Amino acid sequence: MRPTVLITQRIFDEAVALVKGHFEVDYNPSDTPMPQSLLIERLQKKKGAITLLTDQIDETVLSQCLELKIVSNVAVGYNNVDIEACTRREVMVTNTPGVLDDTTADFTWTLILGTARRLVESDKFLRSSQWKGWGLMEFLGHDVHHKVLGICGLGRIGQRVARRARGFEMKILYTDAVRAAPSIEEALGAQFVEKKVLLAQSDFITLHVPLTAQTTHYISTPEFELMKPTSILINASRGPVVDEKALVRALQKGKIAGAGLDVYEREPRVEPALMGMTNVVLAPHTASASGETRLRMATMAAENMIAGLTGKRPPNLVNEKAFQG
Ligand code: DGY
Repeated sequence: MRPTVLITQRIFDEAVALVKGHFEVDYNPSDTPMPQSLLIERLQKKKGAITLLTDQIDETVLSQCLELKIVSNVAVGYNNVDIEACTRREVMVTNTPGVLDDTTADFTWTLILGTARRLVESDKFLRSSQWKGWGLMEFLGHDVHHKVLGICGLGRIGQRVARRARGFEMKILYTDAVRAAPSIEEALGAQFVEKKVLLAQSDFITLHVPLTAQTTHYISTPEFELMKPTSILINASRGPVVDEKALVRALQKGKIAGAGLDVYEREPRVEPALMGMTNVVLAPHTASASGETRLRMATMAAENMIAGLTGKRPPNLVNEKAFQG
């Protein structure tokens, strides 16, 4: 008998077909996450789950879905999954690293340039027929070239962001829990500095740290106090890395000049004050959303699932100890 797996939300048909080639599939073709009780009900007798980052897989779920062997998350981040609980219960967890690095770095740059040059605000201005002709003083923004870029987290995505910054002839500072190898620093022209130094010296501060207990509110009031009043904060990592209420206060008081955000503390909710600010660019968690990349992510998740349930080590296993190979 083929094992049965659950696909919790809508993904690409190609990925569904791949999974159907190996398993019986219970597919929820909706874009809305299931309430926990329904998720638990549909996970009964399932060996695997293909999940999205809006599905919470925690001890409550795991303790009631005892046949589960693998959670294959269609995202590089897996803060929606309780890894410790999964490992304890020998449930493998996989993610989709690598394939979205360039796409996310491209979007980080979209936010940097769009915020600095007030693109969304000027687009709205023009579309609402307010433009009466060229004006020397209209929509003055901030230069990006030759400025200082501060990267918090020089992992795969942070490095791709740095690579692009070289074309803008920027000075690149970075901070991280672990300093990068000299060869990486040299190739990127990136200088390692303490977080405080980065915050005080950067014109653009971009966040690329994973969400952990240590990085929750990594940027809050004390950090905003250190930043230049002309600086712009970019977040395409995870919402809770920034204390959103502190961000609102910092913007209101002019502690920083603007923000470009792709992620929020309590998605899909956004601090209401941010909605009315013209110096803030807001995207709905779409940094990795190119058709090509999202398809690759879904396919990768399917491949991880197939490997995990056919006795092979899934290529992107997060919790090695759960593998019973
Ligand atoms: C991820 O993969 O973690 C992103 O946030 C969504 O692509």
